[in-house]
Amino acid sequence: MLCVNVDLKERSYPIYIGEGLLSDTQVYPLKKGDKVMIVTNPTIAQHYLSSVTETLEKIGCLVESVQLPDGEQYKTLESLDLIFTALLQANHGRDTTLIALGGGVIGDVAGYAAASYQRGVRFIQIPTTLLAQVDSSVGGKTAVNHKLGKNMIGAFYQPCTVIIDTLTLNSLPKREVNAGLAEVIKYGAILDHEFFVWLEQNINHLVTLEQAYLQQCIARCCQIKADVVARDETEQGDRALLNLGHTFGHAIETHLGYGKWLHGEAVAAGMMMAAVLSEKLGDLSFNDVARLEKLLAQANLPTISPDTMNAEDYLPHMMRDKKVLAGKLRLVLLKSLGQAYVATDTDKEYVLDAIRTCTQNS
Ligand code: NAD
Ligand code: GLY
Repeated sequence: MLCVNVDLKERSYPIYIGEGLLSDTQVYPLKKGDKVMIVTNPTIAQHYLSSVTETLEKIGCLVESVQLPDGEQYKTLESLDLIFTALLQANHGRDTTLIALGGGVIGDVAGYAAASYQRGVRFIQIPTTLLAQVDSSVGGKTAVNHKLGKNMIGAFYQPCTVIIDTLTLNSLPKREVNAGLAEVIKYGAILDHEFFVWLEQNINHLVTLEQAYLQQCIARCCQIKADVVARDETEQGDRALLNLGHTFGHAIETHLGYGKWLHGEAVAAGMMMAAVLSEKLGDLSFNDVARLEKLLAQANLPTISPDTMNAEDYLPHMMRDKKVLAGKLRLVLLKSLGQAYVATDTDKEYVLDAIRTCTQNS
């Protein structure tokens, strides 16, 4: 088992990474008599709910669960209400623990529920998608969507433990595995050229879910994210770098309707737009743009805009991005592979030009 620590002083927590951890009583920070509510969905429940429940019962916990409908379109205030209702109906008090068992959607909704139920209760993340294992379960961003914008209602709220059982990826649809690889590639592109090179050499082992490579990769991603979060928990600076491609990607997700393109797919196309824009601004070399495009394509990810969107469709969505300050667009761009920065007030004509370059008809 590998372990990465997120260093946030008295709110520090471990991320355990290994095979079969769902059934390992040692990794759960719980004791006999603790009350827990597992938040999951029917897709994940059929594979893993009984195994987590059995492990918790072995510890002696009083276990209940609530299942939300599956999908990004249910990352809503209504789903939040389902959790609150389940908690209240079963008389859960402030000493309860919420456990998110699922992908990023479950983690984000359950996390926000934990942040706000009775002003905050303990929270454990058990991420079961690659995207959630390398990104969303770590760092405490929790949220639900609004129809006018993604992740618009939420809070920073850290889990007390993250338990990553890499065997859960065996039941994950291939398209979802690939979407997770977009966030993996992101880490190399923004902060770690050596890791980017490692990915270029080993992407095939990851696509085919070879355990040793997966665990090494997930631990590296969690370490990069843990370091960033320790420096800048609430995104006053460096943490924004983790959003490479996201401003473009969120525009795709919102414009198409949540769930049409997977988050990771939208981020992949968005990273290409950011890379092309960086090249147009004279920072990134043509060769580096080509390397990023090749790696994304090897992970079976889109590198161009959806064909139903044109460049003008992006800007209204992008202007609602949480990084916008005083009406000015702030974008994460690349100086080189492994070195990202936040660009303030980039000329909108350059932005549109980069998006046009990444459309099918260009
Ligand atoms: P997801 O949660 O929708 O999961 C993808 C699909 O896989 C779902 O149908 C789910 O039921 C299913 N699934 C999950 N685990 C499975 C398994 N082991 N076997 C079979 N099926 C399984 O999608 P996601 O990609 O995990 O997360 C995307 C969400 O994460 C977005 O809402 C995005 O905004 C959010 N996100 C949050 C952060 C953050 O820092 N909080 C970071 C990145 C992304
Ligand atoms: N996924 C971006 C962040 O956690 O900040």
